[in-house]
Amino acid sequence: MTQNAKDIIAETEKLLINTYNAQPVVMDRGEGVYAWDTDGKKYLDFAAGIAVASLGHAPKAVLKTLNEQGAKMITTQTSYATLPKLEASKIIIENGCFDQVYWCNSGTEAIEAALKTVRKWAYDNKSKDAHEIIAFRKSFHGRTYGSASITEKSHSQPFFGPYIPGIKWAKLNDLQSVKDVVSDKTCAIIVEPVQGEGGLMPATTEFLQGLRDLCDKNDIALIFDEIQTGMGRLGYFNAYEAFGVEPDIATHAKGLGSGFPVGAMLAKRRIGSSIVVGTHGTTYGGNPLACAVAATVMKEILKPGFLENVRKTGEFFMEGLKKLKRDSNKITDIRGKGLLIGLDTTVDIKKLLKNAQSNGLLATQAGDATYRMSPPLIVNEQQAQEAINILAKTLKEAE
Ligand SMILES: Cc1ncc(COP(=O)(O)O)c(C=O)c1O
Repeated sequence: MTQNAKDIIAETEKLLINTYNAQPVVMDRGEGVYAWDTDGKKYLDFAAGIAVASLGHAPKAVLKTLNEQGAKMITTQTSYATLPKLEASKIIIENGCFDQVYWCNSGTEAIEAALKTVRKWAYDNKSKDAHEIIAFRKSFHGRTYGSASITEKSHSQPFFGPYIPGIKWAKLNDLQSVKDVVSDKTCAIIVEPVQGEGGLMPATTEFLQGLRDLCDKNDIALIFDEIQTGMGRLGYFNAYEAFGVEPDIATHAKGLGSGFPVGAMLAKRRIGSSIVVGTHGTTYGGNPLACAVAATVMKEILKPGFLENVRKTGEFFMEGLKKLKRDSNKITDIRGKGLLIGLDTTVDIKKLLKNAQSNGLLATQAGDATYRMSPPLIVNEQQAQEAINILAKTLKEAE
């Protein structure tokens, strides 16, 4: 096995199906909010696997759970109850507005479950034709067929078509555009409280409340895709709490396992109970190890002071970035909530990501040109300031 980073990347690329542009370094290990590459270079990891490593790298609580539950039982058929499944289900239900949970392994699977649930609910309760789903321009919900069908940019890839029928499009924060496509056939509206891949565009509270009222009036299910925004990312356990508007269904993944693959679809019983034995399921979903990890992660997030700290650090970070915007003429916009923050700048996004990475800061691109930061939720003010300093230096060097 070759050890040189360039050789590792080239050799890996030859073996992989080409779904992502390769990064220029080989990632090796992480601790807290920091990551190191195989050349020993240290980075402040404000990408965190794109809002995944919620507790940072190598969190002690998760390592303990992996060891203990791994030694006890990793898997069993999904039909068995287990204590980790009961514990994780209790935590996720007791800390939100939902009655039932469906466990799965990723974000896109949670979305697929939500789509099937609302279609079955509408088929049983509204009419057999009520299959239409309203999604939003610039949405992102995943890459399997149902999720791709409600993700706007997938439709610019016609070679994968046809996508699932019955999808109608509206504009985020434009209630009239939603009303224009509501019909007797609408079964659900699906929205990201902050559009992630669409460029970190937050929905307004008024808009989400407008969707809630529209859904109540027309007997439509409201789905919040909280995969990027839930589990503390916006400073609240559930993203909907940041807006004070309750959906009927929510989807989770990413931060829920802090890096361990686990997803969940939560539903009010009136809708979730439409899914009955034989209509949906998965081999791995809700296995004892995944549930034990999810329970551990959620317990950490729910510890007194944790979410308050996310909100406080998020505000500190936002204020610092606003100051940087005033001092530098290169930042054109700052958007986001909690610890999900994006910058638009006059610097080419690819260059900004690469140069900030060289200076020791990892982040990701969102939308066409937004510099997205989604640090571990354990980040402190000093580390947030460190990120601002690296960004300031990188923007200055771009002169
Ligand atoms: C809002 C949102 N929904 C769904 C997904 C899909 O999740 P996964 O990549 O785990 O399938 C993502 C992933 O980026 C996301 O950000």
